[in-house]
Amino acid sequence: MELQEAKKNIKERGFLDISVGDEIDYAEEIKRLKKEKNAVILAHYYQEPAIQDIADFVGDSLQLSYKAAEADADLIVFAGVHFMAETAKILNPDKKVVLPDLNAGCSLSEACEAEDLAAFKKKHPDHLVVTYVNTSAAVKAISDICCTSSNAKKIIDSIPEDQPIIFAPDKNLGAYINKVTGRNMLLWEGACIVHEAFSIDKLLSTHQEHPKAKIIAHPESEEHILKTAAYIGSTSGLINFAKTDPSQEFIVATEAGILHEMQKEVPNKKLYPAPAVEDNTCACSECPYMKMNNMKKLYLCMEYELPEIHVPEEIQKKALIPIQRMLDISSR
Ligand code: 13P
Ligand code: SF4
Repeated sequence: MELQEAKKNIKERGFLDISVGDEIDYAEEIKRLKKEKNAVILAHYYQEPAIQDIADFVGDSLQLSYKAAEADADLIVFAGVHFMAETAKILNPDKKVVLPDLNAGCSLSEACEAEDLAAFKKKHPDHLVVTYVNTSAAVKAISDICCTSSNAKKIIDSIPEDQPIIFAPDKNLGAYINKVTGRNMLLWEGACIVHEAFSIDKLLSTHQEHPKAKIIAHPESEEHILKTAAYIGSTSGLINFAKTDPSQEFIVATEAGILHEMQKEVPNKKLYPAPAVEDNTCACSECPYMKMNNMKKLYLCMEYELPEIHVPEEIQKKALIPIQRMLDISSR
């Protein structure tokens, strides 16, 4: 009965809200389900450590898209946010894709509705539309090409210089790409709440406390944060820099979940999360959407294969085009 009720309420709640016994070992159950269902768990670096540790693959948005594209599992379990699971579904329309909590959204995706982008496109009919993958399937369906933070420069460089471009929805990533490519793209007014939460004053104080540390930042951060950075890159770019750069200390300006994998890669180096304006539990910046997923919800979504991601066929077909263009250019 509880299960029937929970299934009925799934749209409203966003996840299967059912009780499980206290004695359950989520890690063991998830491992069992992976085998039984031939499932693959793809997780983003911003997921909680226990989820990253049980995942088959942990990566940045671009790596996760490639992994989704080549997945031969029967069940794709996406431990990330909605737009990521939707991208996996667009790439695998015949496979079942589940997300532990449908409410795991993204402030960037929410800042750009398809109708608004369509109206903006109409005002600028000569512009090509490049959208960050942090958008809904409906927005991708009216985009010319997608990008992630790790391939944005490459994607923009692949477009003829005299071609005007609309870049949506991240104004910070867009401004950074304008700067490094010398373009003058029209920028949508969206931002990531996590990367806009960093405090420049607190960041500079942290740097004074650890003067040998290099500041490294994600390009979703604001310009005044990026100006202080010795390196700017996607989540995988940041991990790679911490690994290959000879420095022994880093102040990391991105979502704090990345520190789990980064510390594993550089066990002897010191990592400090960039501080957020508001003091919160970790004095860092955490994505409330990414953190909606937990081991219980992950287990339940694998056990009952719910909540499932659905994309209407017409949107799926149109959205696949800009994603595929991105993957093709990116792998050149
Ligand atoms: P990347 O993992 O592509 O760097 O993106 C960061 C992000 O904010 C994902 O939501
Ligand atoms: Fe969206 Fe920012 Fe959260 Fe990434 S970290 S999912 S960009 S809100």
